[in-house]
Amino acid sequence: MRFRPRSISITSGKGGTGKTTLTANLGVALGALGKDTTILDGDLAMANLAIVLGMHKCELSFLDALKGEAEVKDVIYRNYGIKVVPMGFRFEDAHEVLTKVKRERVEEAIKELLKQTEFLLIDGAAGIQDATIISIAAAREMIPVCNPTYTSLVDAYKIVRMANVLGSWTRGVVVNRTGRGADLSADEVEAFMSRALGSMPILSEIPEDTKVQEAELAGVPVVVYEPDCEASIAIGKLAKLVAGEANLPYVPYEERAVAETTSRLVRALTGRSI
Ligand SMILES: Nc1ncnc2c1ncn2[C@@H]1O[C@H](COP(=O)(O)OP(=O)(O)OP(=O)(O)O)[C@@H](O)[C@H]1O
Ligand SMILES: [Mg+2]
Repeated sequence: MRFRPRSISITSGKGGTGKTTLTANLGVALGALGKDTTILDGDLAMANLAIVLGMHKCELSFLDALKGEAEVKDVIYRNYGIKVVPMGFRFEDAHEVLTKVKRERVEEAIKELLKQTEFLLIDGAAGIQDATIISIAAAREMIPVCNPTYTSLVDAYKIVRMANVLGSWTRGVVVNRTGRGADLSADEVEAFMSRALGSMPILSEIPEDTKVQEAELAGVPVVVYEPDCEASIAIGKLAKLVAGEANLPYVPYEERAVAETTSRLVRALTGRSI
């Protein structure tokens, strides 16, 4: 293996906080820093990561790989300087994967993804459900995305607790869509997090920015669509932080063996241990 892979799930308790947008754009920003990056759609229910990158016609998806009907290499697409692994959105298949998945196949699929990349970002589903558990358990690190509202913070707290149970590490939170009238301030967010969790710094504040939705409509990541807008600048800084190239410390725990990551995933998926 050329490098130790970093696997990071992008999650939230509450839906619609900006996970998919962040996964796509943080991925592209890491790619622009020269990092070998793969983004995986871990949202079995909604599966829209590829769509925000304008990729509407992916014949095969990670679902096919999990079902053993496609090779992992055939579900890795290339766009905007990174690798994208879409999830199909056939409910029956998702149900089958969650209930009858073959342990060896899951292991193999995740191992193969981790082997061919430096960063694996996983776009998670909201809430505490099977699909969320899978994406958190599959990753060594987690970045929760919340909005600057009290309910969103409470939900972020729950997801951090759940990640702890699953053995995934959270370095800090991303507060997305800041700067609107009635929002909590950064100090209030940090005060809440430290009361609830001891300590949980804000990794990044991404402002509310109309360019994000414009870019989404165009099917282009905002960091490419409008690199100089406020949201893109914030995401670019976060990418540097995550990549460990900024002054701020981002020191991941020692990366565990790939086998350990996959065994957690398998346990979450099947209830069996390996
Ligand atoms: N910083 C921002 N400024 C303005 N709009 C934003 C920002 N971040 C995200 N959005 C918009 O918010 C909406 C929800 O974002 P997104 O789909 O990324 O959330 P999500 O957490 O993945 O949702 P879900 O829980 O449904 O998967 C999108 O229309 C997106 O364009
Ligand atoms: Mg999403």
